[in-house]
Amino acid sequence: MESSLRASPTRVLSLWTLLLGCFNIAGLRPGSVIAESLDMVTVSAVAGGDATLPCDTRSTQASDVLLLVVWYKNDVPLYSYDGRIKGPSAHWADDVLGGRARWHAATPSSLRIRDVIPTDRAMYRCRVDFKISPTRNHKILLDVIELPEKPKIFDERDKEIIGVAGPYEESTSLKLTCVVSGGKPMPKVRWWRDDKVIATLAPVDDGSRLSILELRIPKLTRDYYEAVYTCTADNTVLAPPLRVNVQIQIYLRPLFVEILAREQPLSVGQTSELACKAVGARPPAVITWWMDDRQMSVTAIQKNSDDKNETISFLRWTPRMDQDGRTLTCRAAHVSLEHSTIETSVTLNLHYVPIVSLQLGSKLNPNDIEEGDDVYFECIVRSNPPAYKVVWEHDGQIMTHNQRAGVIAGSAHLALQGVNRSQAGKYACTASNVEGDGKSPPVNLQVIYKPVCVATATAIVGAAINEPTKVTCEVDAFPPPKNFQWTLNNSMGTLEIEAEKFTIDGKGRSVLSYTPASEKDYGSLACRATNLAGQQMEACRYSLLPAVRPDPLSNCSSVNLTDDSAEIRCAAGYDGGLQTSYIVEVWESKNLVANVSTALPAWILRGLGSGKSLKLVFYAYNARGRSETNMMRINTLARLALHTGA
Ligand SMILES: *[C@@H]1O[C@H](CO)[C@@H](O)[C@H](O)[C@H]1NC(C)=O
Ligand SMILES: *[C@@H]1O[C@H](CO)[C@@H](O)[C@H](O)[C@H]1NC(C)=O
Ligand SMILES: *[C@@H]1O[C@H](CO)[C@@H](O)[C@H](O)[C@H]1NC(C)=O
Ligand SMILES: *[C@@H]1O[C@H](CO)[C@@H](O)[C@H](O)[C@H]1NC(C)=O
Ligand SMILES: *[C@@H]1O[C@H](CO)[C@@H](O)[C@H](O)[C@H]1NC(C)=O
Ligand SMILES: *[C@@H]1O[C@H](CO)[C@@H](O)[C@H](O)[C@H]1NC(C)=O
Repeated sequence: MESSLRASPTRVLSLWTLLLGCFNIAGLRPGSVIAESLDMVTVSAVAGGDATLPCDTRSTQASDVLLLVVWYKNDVPLYSYDGRIKGPSAHWADDVLGGRARWHAATPSSLRIRDVIPTDRAMYRCRVDFKISPTRNHKILLDVIELPEKPKIFDERDKEIIGVAGPYEESTSLKLTCVVSGGKPMPKVRWWRDDKVIATLAPVDDGSRLSILELRIPKLTRDYYEAVYTCTADNTVLAPPLRVNVQIQIYLRPLFVEILAREQPLSVGQTSELACKAVGARPPAVITWWMDDRQMSVTAIQKNSDDKNETISFLRWTPRMDQDGRTLTCRAAHVSLEHSTIETSVTLNLHYVPIVSLQLGSKLNPNDIEEGDDVYFECIVRSNPPAYKVVWEHDGQIMTHNQRAGVIAGSAHLALQGVNRSQAGKYACTASNVEGDGKSPPVNLQVIYKPVCVATATAIVGAAINEPTKVTCEVDAFPPPKNFQWTLNNSMGTLEIEAEKFTIDGKGRSVLSYTPASEKDYGSLACRATNLAGQQMEACRYSLLPAVRPDPLSNCSSVNLTDDSAEIRCAAGYDGGLQTSYIVEVWESKNLVANVSTALPAWILRGLGSGKSLKLVFYAYNARGRSETNMMRINTLARLALHTGA
């Protein structure tokens, strides 16, 4: 019995328990021990803990006295208590127990053993001697339970796991091994998830002292993310199971990604914010932004939700025109899982101020448009959203559609039927949409036309014999004429004047320097210019008359008279055909106060003094001599303001 009990305690103990149960029920007494009082008790104790071995020392007879209690281990005495002695010397213990055991006499009396060791496992007998009653024996079987060591968990590569297993890639398999060393009896090993048992290893004593239980998960889905598994080992109810937790870490790929379409359509040139959300990746996804398969070089701020299941990236960027219609992509990638990148795209709809350009009709030669030609302009508009109106301008003036006048203004074309010179100038078109107005650069329309005289009437030119006189011919023409022709019509007929006698300035002017030599050199001068469009139809005409002294001034009046000044105007007469000066002399009695000469017969006289009576004398003067004089009197005003001030 003893040897088999050591070899396989679990099995033998259970046999014992079974036998004991039967004996107790049948009232039989097993074994070779003393026949009286054979109630056998089994006591279990955990190694290192305490064991209480009961032994009833109460006599059945009231007047009886307890003499001696002796404890035997395998029939060898190891402890005694002498009821007749008072004090510590009543107790005796052998060396094996040492100081670990102590008899407690108080009911229920028992022997208590501290720091139980495996070799304490044995059959104990307690013999009780009384003065009167017969000796009694109690049998106590002490079972010492050795706890196993704390479970250890190993991964697929036999590496011990402390706390966290993984990270594993999503969808791979997992195998964790729980290894428990020692334990007597052999422990029961179990894997748990939360409160549920996943796997159990019944105690098996194969002599290895190791209990090994695997946990296998064929496919790690999202459900296993951060799942906590526990391996427990227990071989007694006297101590709580030994347990080790392990948390499963899994890399999860992003599930979906979406662009949160805010503020679409966007406006070119206006900084906008777009957001992209990626859900389900662990650790959080890395979000990048792409424009037509090229990563954008803008920094986007990335934020994770509190549970880290959602990641949002905010793209702040200023759209450019050329990005309209292009593909904006948001990509969510896992930091380390391959082939887990997912993406979503939007086609950009960008709004912008119309981009406008203006073109003269392609069939027209801009340098050869004559009066009467039909002219077309094309307004080329690039716009999103489309322009709702197009406005045409000529030299800054808005044009209106006027079919009768030959102005046909549409949204893309402007037609001018039979243009004239007044329609030359700068043209522009302006297209408008919700973003604003876009104006084209101006296009200059040139209309070429024959020279026309600037002066409408025949000018009178005075010329003195043998004195050179300058005659200026000014014409309006496009392009400016390069050729002028001067003719003199007099009693002799019509003569063309030699080209050396006049200059041409290229801006539509020709200056003739003419010197009459005799009376017959007077007559009518005519000037005609010629340009690309042809020769001037109506010549500019000048009457060349002999130069004389000017006619006198007339109708002189003072238009503004103050206490110190006078403004005087006269009407000029014929200037004698020469450059003429107009003179006013200011006399105060016999004193010449002022003598002013001007190119026009109007004068402002200042510093005359107040309250003066003045005589004004007017005349015109040219190279031929002076006109007759006019006379006028004025009185400057009195300085009233000073008197009232005093
Ligand atoms: C993450 O979000 C997805 C989609 O809403 C959901 O199916 C999943 O359960 C979430 N996971 C966690 C850990 O909240
Ligand atoms: C030129 O044409 C415009 C429009 O047809 C017209 O209003 C204008 O009077 C014309 N000018 C001349 C000088 O003919
Ligand atoms: C010249 O003058 C005469 C008389 O004034 C006139 O009859 C004639 O038509 C003129 N000729 C030209 C070319 O102007
Ligand atoms: C003289 O001047 C007055 C006022 O300035 C004007 O009304 C009148 O027509 C002029 N007479 C002549 C001949 O110029
Ligand atoms: C009259 O002349 C004075 C001094 O030159 C000037 O201040 C004033 O404005 C003039 N008045 C008019 C109506 O021209
Ligand atoms: C006034 O000036 C003119 C020349 O500007 C001169 O001929 C004339 O004699 C002067 N008058 C007097 C009175 O000196």
